[in-house]
Amino acid sequence: MEFLEHLLVLAHLLGMAAIVGSAVFVARGVATPALVWGARAQLLTGLVLVGLAEAGDEDLNHVKVGVKLLVAIAVAACAEIAAAKERKGQGARAQLVTAAGALALLNTAIAVLWR
Ligand code: HEM
Repeated sequence: MEFLEHLLVLAHLLGMAAIVGSAVFVARGVATPALVWGARAQLLTGLVLVGLAEAGDEDLNHVKVGVKLLVAIAVAACAEIAAAKERKGQGARAQLVTAAGALALLNTAIAVLWR
């Protein structure tokens, strides 16, 4: 169980790296598959991590988790809308990609600094 939790934290960190790496450092303004799948992975791995913590006897900060969930939904929405606009050849998606990257950075700061 503990090993599974550690594997999920690893997947969660890789998802964060995919979003921030793509949107902030590598492909600014472009909705890459790494950005979109990273955003989806964060929602999935984050929720499973919460489930595992609740199933064990870990104390979770529910306000922090709730805020992270809202921010992660906003990240995924920005990434999905930007990718859809890219597929349809519509413009004005660079701001959405930037917003997804910035919000993912915000969630990383919340994860690490909110104790
Ligand atoms: C863009 C979205 C997200 C990013 C960038 C992100 C980032 C991170 C990072 C960097 C950590 C490691 C922190 C540490 O070990 O000190 C972490 C842990 C964790 N995250 Fe996320 N996260 C995101 C979304 C979510 C969501 C949606 C949930 C659940 C609703 C969630 C729940 C958790 C939990 C339970 C942990 C385990 C460690 C802890 O107690 O903080 N995360 N997250």
